[in-house]
Amino acid sequence: MSQSQFLSNCTADAMVLAAAHLAAGDLVAFPTETVYGLGADASNATAVAKIYAAKGRPSDHPLIVHIASMDRMGDWASDVPEYAIKLARSFWPGPMTLIVKRSALAGEFITGGQSSVGLRVPDHVIALALLQAFEKTGGKGIAAPSANRFGQVSPTTAAAVIEELGDYLHPNDIVLDGGACEVGVESTIIDCTGDNPRILRPGAISDQMVAEITGLEIIRTYRFIDDGRGIEFEEPHEEIRVSGSLENHYAPKAKVLLDQQPIAGQGFIAMADIATPTGVTRLAAPATNDEYARVLYQGLRKGDELGLVEIVAIQPAGEDIAAAIRDRLKKAKSKQ
Ligand code: TXA
Ligand code: MG
Repeated sequence: MSQSQFLSNCTADAMVLAAAHLAAGDLVAFPTETVYGLGADASNATAVAKIYAAKGRPSDHPLIVHIASMDRMGDWASDVPEYAIKLARSFWPGPMTLIVKRSALAGEFITGGQSSVGLRVPDHVIALALLQAFEKTGGKGIAAPSANRFGQVSPTTAAAVIEELGDYLHPNDIVLDGGACEVGVESTIIDCTGDNPRILRPGAISDQMVAEITGLEIIRTYRFIDDGRGIEFEEPHEEIRVSGSLENHYAPKAKVLLDQQPIAGQGFIAMADIATPTGVTRLAAPATNDEYARVLYQGLRKGDELGLVEIVAIQPAGEDIAAAIRDRLKKAKSKQ
């Protein structure tokens, strides 16, 4: 069980306390609208090293720097293209990470040695209050990956954070409880270092939304194929250095099977209008794609808690957040 401090009452005083811990080099796990993050002072190499240790994550995988507002972009980035500014203006605070050329402040220990940095303004009252309280201590940004052990399913509740990282946190570290995350899958990552936006990881901000705002052609690192049953699937077609793009990410302990009839003893995740066969354990029955995203990781976790060996998931159709769900399900599946 966790040795860290657990704060379920996120008052203004609690935010000041958590910000002071960040400034002192401790870790603070906090809710965002996507998933929970494991935060550290993004300008403190020693504090950031604690994130990699707690997650068991290789140090060449870059971290996202969370900032209180887009005004802070200039601290961490240089040569931000006009289209990235447009995206920031339209979708921040929100579930979108922009990869831009880094400034001198963005150290190699954040960027994994790359010349770019990932920035995001999260849309969550607790995350924003923490960022603002941290700014008052002189802090400029909070580095935060998802608060799970490397390669595992991202946590969407504080209880899931404790389950993932409880054994790896220090007594001075803090876990803030903000309830269940609204979006439920990680942010859309958009590489803005070239002439056109490149979507590195699909999320709630869809390709179409990015195209509409920027007026530019979108380069995506996955493509749609039709499997002959009228359902569209994406296949990664490019190797890129994004840890979330590794094939074996976002994986529960159970084996994940896609788009097949579940049999007795298996777990099952599908839209509500698809019935549960006898003997099958229903883990989630969302009515919409947004709800699917919100309950997906909780459903996978529940399957593991119940000790299920296999979980069947029926992929949702559509080009909205459904694309992000299919991306994560494919990665969960490819672990085995
Ligand atoms: O929704 C989210 O993005 C959550 C919340 C906590 O904000 N964060 C998150 O962080 O998912 P993480 O570290 O689990 O995934 C971020 C991904 C990683 O795959 C990382 O490799 C990639 O972003 N990334 C970060 N900086 C990058 C950069 N400069 N170039 C390319 N990829 C980068
Ligand atoms: Mg992650």
